[in-house]
Amino acid sequence: MSTTVKVENALDVFVAETRELFGRESDPEVRWELLRPVLAKLLADPEVLSASKEWPECIPAEGRAENLLFYEDPDFGFAINGLTKGPGRIAHDRAQINPHMHDHAHLYTLYGVLDGHEKIERAVRVDDRSRSDYAEVERTADSLVGPGEIDLVRPYEIHRDVTVGEVTVAIIIRSAKGGGFNQGRYDPETNRYWESLGPRQTPCEMFPS
Ligand SMILES: [Fe+2]
Repeated sequence: MSTTVKVENALDVFVAETRELFGRESDPEVRWELLRPVLAKLLADPEVLSASKEWPECIPAEGRAENLLFYEDPDFGFAINGLTKGPGRIAHDRAQINPHMHDHAHLYTLYGVLDGHEKIERAVRVDDRSRSDYAEVERTADSLVGPGEIDLVRPYEIHRDVTVGEVTVAIIIRSAKGGGFNQGRYDPETNRYWESLGPRQTPCEMFPS
């Protein structure tokens, strides 16, 4: 007689722990702070890092970024994305490849760096919001981040991730799948504000067989 042993991978463990946390904690501020160490464990797993070498490169197209979609929870709605910025992207002019300052609309997001270094910029809005196509923003932070570091982006917080010439990989946990609704965009040079769809969601296996 043979017995079947189910071996859980790091993604299974992450999903189980996140579902358990979301089941017992409904306050989003507490929930998303408590999720940090759960994501930290996923980022620290050597099998995730080695699997990420097989993930396809995310290619921005038609004004939209691309995210890999590893998982969407059927009950709580949270989504697990990958973001790979490979050699093709790094070779281009940085002005063309870096996203505009933006927000994630109503979503909570944990942005965790898995591999490489990049810069995370943060800004706050300082105008009176009286004009629909205008926003003044002031840069508040500009930090170099590397493997294991996690940035919590709350609803409507303004930020962007900027390449510094290194190939980078991030794992992003969102309170819901992005891409199907508009997010705010900000140009600090001209004070233009506009909205457009979030990243295209490309289904992908976190552990390709
Ligand atoms: Fe973002």
